[in-house]
Amino acid sequence: MGERSLAGRKALVTGGARGIGASIAAALSAAGASVMIGDILEDAGRQTAAGLGEHGKAGFVRLDVADDAQWQAAVAATVAELGGFDLLVNNAGIEITSLIVDVEAADLRRMCEVNIVGVALGMKHAFRAMRPGGAAGQGGSVVNIASVAATIAFPAIAGYSGTKSAVDRMTRVAAMEAGKLGYGVRVNCLYPGLIPTEMGMKLANDIVANGLAADVGAAVAGVVEQTPLGRLAEVGDVADAVVFLSSPQARFITGAGLPVDGGMGM
Ligand SMILES: NC(=O)c1ccc[n+]([C@@H]2O[C@H](COP(=O)([O-])OP(=O)(O)OC[C@H]3O[C@@H](n4cnc5c(N)ncnc54)[C@H](O)[C@@H]3O)[C@@H](O)[C@H]2O)c1
Repeated sequence: MGERSLAGRKALVTGGARGIGASIAAALSAAGASVMIGDILEDAGRQTAAGLGEHGKAGFVRLDVADDAQWQAAVAATVAELGGFDLLVNNAGIEITSLIVDVEAADLRRMCEVNIVGVALGMKHAFRAMRPGGAAGQGGSVVNIASVAATIAFPAIAGYSGTKSAVDRMTRVAAMEAGKLGYGVRVNCLYPGLIPTEMGMKLANDIVANGLAADVGAAVAGVVEQTPLGRLAEVGDVADAVVFLSSPQARFITGAGLPVDGGMGM
């Protein structure tokens, strides 16, 4: 893949203030794209955006992905500030650990709001903007961040796994609609393995708290043991896969789910 495979492209990355999203924003920028970060963390989001923009523009917009009106405003801001919009990365997500015997309805609803409704609204507003006649109108690509949790059974994350399986299915339906209706937009998803971000390390601690591992070291070792390539995932592993799926090199790939998990889910 050429070093500047995304030169001239205009991207919005949700949850880009930190963790995997910040790495995705940096990788898209390094590949030549202009990048808008959308997040509820304003200070961190602005700081991360300030570190981008080596090749194109970079900006921040406050966006709670569960809010339809905020999506409309964030996409409008992206088109206005970057001069277009042709790449969306639906990365924002939350994980609330619980054994099924302890699940709280409010926690399940909150995960559905962010992980399912947030991704669906993102695709809605991206399609409206990117399709012919839309505010950007040049087609494009959407990459949704699902999880290895959509492909394997892992204890204490039933609700989260359900929301990520929904992301997987919504990706296929969205890719079908976008293709059949001539939007010129490809839609794919990724299934990352465990990554030691804030979310990943909180999960490792929760596994211990739920009596499923003796300590965090054992929890992490258990995941590594299940991973043929023998290590945890890194944020850059996911970011590189997003750059590929967003690039012209992936021009005939849509409706696909790509594991980035070292083989854990095979
Ligand atoms: N870390 C892992 O092990 C792992 C593995 C597989 C998939 N994932 C997925 O990758 C994505 C990023 O995870 P991460 O590890 O970087 O998590 P993280 O908690 O470190 O970062 C998540 C980011 O999303 C933002 N966010 C949360 N709710 C939001 C909302 N309503 N609107 C806008 N932004 C919001 C947060 O402010 C934060 O910046 C998530 O979708 C997660 O489910 C993570």
